[in-house]
Amino acid sequence: MNKEQIKLKMDDLIRQINYHNYRYYVLNDPEISDYEFDQLLNELIRLEKEHPELADPNSPTQRVGGDITKKFPTVKHKVRMMSLDNTYSFEELEEFHQRVVKAVGYEPEYVCELKIDGVAISIHYENGKLKQAVTRGDGIQGDEVTANVKTIRTIPLTLIGNDYPNELEVRGEIFMPVKVFKKLNEELREELLEKGLNEEEIEQQLLKNPRNTAAGTLKLQDSKIVASRKLDSYLYFVISPELSFETHYESVLKAKEWGFKVNPYLRKCTSLHEVKQYIEHWEKKRFELDYDTDGIVIKVNSFKLQRLLGETAKAPRWAIAYKYKAEQAATILQDIVFQVGRTGAITPVAVLKPVQLAGTTVKRASLHNADFIAEKDLRIGDTVFVEKGGEIIPKVIGVDLSKRDSSSKPFKYITHCPECHSTLIRKEGEAIHYCPNETECRPQILGKMIHFITRKAMNIESLGEKTIEQFFDAGLVKSYADFYKLSYDQIIQLEGFQDKATRNILQGIEASKKVPFPRVLYALGIRYVGETVAQKLAHHFKSIDALKKASFEELCEVEEIGEKIAASVVEYFKNPYNLEIIEQLRQYGLQLALNDDEIKPLDDKLKGLTFVISGVFEKHSRDELKKLIIQHGGKNTGSISGKTSYLIAGENAGPEKLKKAEQLNIKIINEDEFLKMI
Ligand code: IVH
Repeated sequence: MNKEQIKLKMDDLIRQINYHNYRYYVLNDPEISDYEFDQLLNELIRLEKEHPELADPNSPTQRVGGDITKKFPTVKHKVRMMSLDNTYSFEELEEFHQRVVKAVGYEPEYVCELKIDGVAISIHYENGKLKQAVTRGDGIQGDEVTANVKTIRTIPLTLIGNDYPNELEVRGEIFMPVKVFKKLNEELREELLEKGLNEEEIEQQLLKNPRNTAAGTLKLQDSKIVASRKLDSYLYFVISPELSFETHYESVLKAKEWGFKVNPYLRKCTSLHEVKQYIEHWEKKRFELDYDTDGIVIKVNSFKLQRLLGETAKAPRWAIAYKYKAEQAATILQDIVFQVGRTGAITPVAVLKPVQLAGTTVKRASLHNADFIAEKDLRIGDTVFVEKGGEIIPKVIGVDLSKRDSSSKPFKYITHCPECHSTLIRKEGEAIHYCPNETECRPQILGKMIHFITRKAMNIESLGEKTIEQFFDAGLVKSYADFYKLSYDQIIQLEGFQDKATRNILQGIEASKKVPFPRVLYALGIRYVGETVAQKLAHHFKSIDALKKASFEELCEVEEIGEKIAASVVEYFKNPYNLEIIEQLRQYGLQLALNDDEIKPLDDKLKGLTFVISGVFEKHSRDELKKLIIQHGGKNTGSISGKTSYLIAGENAGPEKLKKAEQLNIKIINEDEFLKMI
């Protein structure tokens, strides 16, 4: 094939991929299998790699991201992005309707739409190609986020058909599906839990709601991460001097033909009565959707009438938003119970009489800490109001005092641990109570042991939560160091343990003695020392003995180590019990220092690069490859993400990993290619 033919071939692939992308993501009605789709995409990726000079900047391969945006330039909107006036009641809605009728002279047709709770966006197309995407900002100017918007699969990079205007601006909402948001938060929770944060701290650090997260995601510098966040869009507005639609409804349907995703629940209403029915219908139904909606937008359908009605300084007179009130429910506070975390943090939890709220049954709500309960004067038996805003966890927002029983008494916060009865402590300036009895309080000990065996820590797969509980209750283990003194006879006599399981457990424990120092450090469960912090500390200090001696100031000097972490590390090593456990681990032969070959990279040829290894290799074992990566300043991780630079694939490499790498456009290399790099 000559250059021209190759270019034609690439254009044809782009056209096909765009079309199938549209069928899949916008119409939800694919015509070909994922496999066939991937083949088309891979063919295009291959051609673009071979002929980068022919690559189209709007190629669908751009979806996986790759561009880094350091600064988002401010761009002035060609046409101001207005906002909407809000109403909260049918009376106000009627007033709006009366104003419209008065100006128009008759009852016009309306279009009702869901008000998507996302981030408003304006996207410019020239000759059918996406050129620029800008956030709403203050309505006059916004930030240019083109590279990130290009990763959103429901936003066409090239328009479909041949009747679109040369210059087109479309506006709409970018949002994060609730499912995606929840998953992201679950992953974040896991990470924070592993760092030893308590419920209160975790709650503070979790992502607040899908809208904030979508807004934050659009402003990420690395478009690869944006691509992995699976944002979605609904478009509801087209602007072009070349268009001559008569109605809003028509224009939105046309936008759909050009490839945009438009909300399927748009409805024309010929009376205010129908508008109200639409509002009432979605008041409850909206909770079944996979995106947040905070109201309904009512628009006069005819463009002629829209022009007649005009606008105020801030909002059009031809449209209004009907906002739903945040869902609230009243229910009985049946009890307040307390959870003890692995660090001893006490979290009070409200036990509620089950109540329906925003599409789910609510039975419990976090009460944060003692101050919260005192401030609200919550009492057992009270009727309380619970609310679910954009947030996922329901909140207790107040008490219905009119329903309070005259004999009720203020709630007395516990003074002793509900598990081990130790006197609770509360540190200066902290809102949380702690149980100080780290060495004997059941949930604390179990929590620490369970953390110790997890995959990223000592990875003792043959032990599980239930087994650990059984060992603990039988008095065989009091700390994780005790795992290493367990004997065959001790385990086999317990109920449910056969020869094979027993040997397995002992083998798993024995094997963990080889786990490298950074992971052992992480396994200790020092508060705020998660996997990455443990790595940083291990590589900086090289051994537990050096780390033990480090002062607060010395710790603060380490890259990415803040005061909170430094204080926690110092406190940990001050505690004689912890020192005793460390000595026991040393006796049992665990790795409490870096090996020679783990120390100091030889060079930084792989600096800034992240590798994932999969499969079996000819010249090196996987562990050896890992070491090589680290010795040359690179990073090795277990799973592929937007941050991965290379997948080193050997024989029998995991098909999932290969597929994901291809999807994210991550380079796949073999052992030799890797060795060449170093
Ligand atoms: S129309 C001039 N339609 O709500 C009219 N807006 O409060 C412009 N929004 O900034 C807006 N869903 O971000 C319109 N179906 C919808 C909408 C919608 C969500 C947002 C939009 C706007 C804000 C106004």
